[in-house]
Amino acid sequence: MYDLTVIIPTFKEEANIRNIITEVDAVFQKNTLNGEILVVDDDSPDNTIVIVNELKKTMANVDLLVRTTDHGLSQSVADGFLHASSDVFVVIDADMSHPPALIPKMYEEIRAGCDVVIGSRYMEGGGIKKWPLKRRIISLGATFLGRLLFPDITDPVSGFFAVRRSVVAEAKLKPRGYKILLEVLGKGTWENDKEIPFEFSDREIGTSKLKIRTIIEYAEQVADITLYSFTHHQSAAWREWKKVFKFGIVGISGIIVNLGILFLLVEYTCLNEYTDNFIAIAIAGAVAIEISILNNFIWNDLWTFHSQENRKYSSRWHRLVAFNIVSAGGAAINWGVLLILTGSFGFYYMAAQFIGTLIGFIWNFTVNRRFTWGRTSE
Ligand code: GDD
Ligand code: MN
Repeated sequence: MYDLTVIIPTFKEEANIRNIITEVDAVFQKNTLNGEILVVDDDSPDNTIVIVNELKKTMANVDLLVRTTDHGLSQSVADGFLHASSDVFVVIDADMSHPPALIPKMYEEIRAGCDVVIGSRYMEGGGIKKWPLKRRIISLGATFLGRLLFPDITDPVSGFFAVRRSVVAEAKLKPRGYKILLEVLGKGTWENDKEIPFEFSDREIGTSKLKIRTIIEYAEQVADITLYSFTHHQSAAWREWKKVFKFGIVGISGIIVNLGILFLLVEYTCLNEYTDNFIAIAIAGAVAIEISILNNFIWNDLWTFHSQENRKYSSRWHRLVAFNIVSAGGAAINWGVLLILTGSFGFYYMAAQFIGTLIGFIWNFTVNRRFTWGRTSE
C-alpha cells in the first residue's frame, strides 16, 4: 500500500511529462516516501501516453489512466481519486507550475490531522511568476468569488493541493472546468484545512488551455455549490451560512439593546432634566449605539465566531477595536445609502433605510469575518 498518490492530469504534455514524473519520484526517494504517481490523460494525440508507458517499464510506482469520454481537467482529477490506491491524494500540474518539493510537507500536514492542504499563491510567501495582466485579473476574480464561499482560504481555486481520501470518498462531485479544488471544498466532507505558500511559475513549454467557456462554467459551479450547501448541512459552505445567520440574530439583538438603552437614558436618567432636549438625545443616542456595538461584539465573539482557529487577532481587545472600526464603516454605508436613495432617487425613506441596513449588514459580516475574526496568514 502506498503512503500517497500524486495525481497528474495531462493533455498533450509530451514536452513535460517525463520531467514531472522524474522530479516527483526524486522527491519521494529523498524523503523516503512510498508514493504512487498516477497520470490521468485525456487520450492525448501527442506522445504523452507513449512516454508514460515507457517510464512505467522501469518505475513500478507509475500508473496511467487513459480516458476517452467526458474530456476535462476536473473530470480527470475526479477519476484519479477513484483510481488511486492510497488514502492521501496530491494533485499537481504536469507543466512544472507547481513545485514537487512541497509534496512531503503537504503529506506531513495530512498526517498531522489536516483534511485538505492547499498550495496557495495568494498568502504571504506565495506568488505568481510571469503572468500577463489579463490572466492575473481573471484569476483574482475567480479567487474573489471562491472566497465568498470559503473566506478563510486565500486560494480556493489552486490546482495544487492534497486531500484525504475520506474527504472525497462519498462526495457527489460534479466536476467540470478547471476548478476541481472548489468542487472538493464545496461538496467534500472536511473540517481542518491548511494552506502552504508557493510560487506559481507559468509553463515554459506548450500553452495554457484556459478558455472563456471556463469562466462561465466557473460561475455556474459557484452557484451550484451555493445551492448544494442549502441541502447538505455537513458542507463547509453551510458552516458559513450558519455564521451569517447567527450574525443576523446578534444584529437584531443589537437593535433591541440600542432602542432599549436609548429609551432608558432619555426617560430615566438625569439626561431627562436637560431643558435642551437635543443634546440629551445626542448623548443618549451615542451611548446607546456604542453599547449595542459592545453587545454585538460579545455575542459574535462568544457565539458566532467562537470556533475560529488561528486568529489574526488573538487578543479580544484587538478584536473589539477592529469590530468598532468596521461597524462604524457599516453605519456610514447605511447612512450614505439612505441619503443617496432618498435624495437622488426619490425612494421612500423607510425603504431606503431598509436597503441601507441590508448593505450595511453585508459589509459588517464580510469585513468582520475576514478582518476582525479572520485567520492569520502566518
Ligand atoms: N486530463 C486532462 N484533461 N488534463 C488536462 C486538461 C484536460 O482536458 N486540460 C489541462 N490539463 C492538464 C494539463 O496537462 C496540466 O497538467 C494541468 O492540467 C493544468 O493545465 P494548464 O492548461 O497548464 O492550466 P493553467 O496553467 O492554465 O491553470 C493552472 O492554474 C489554475 C489556477 O490559476 C491549473 O493548475 C489550474 O488547475 C488552476 O486552477
Ligand atoms: Mn499551466
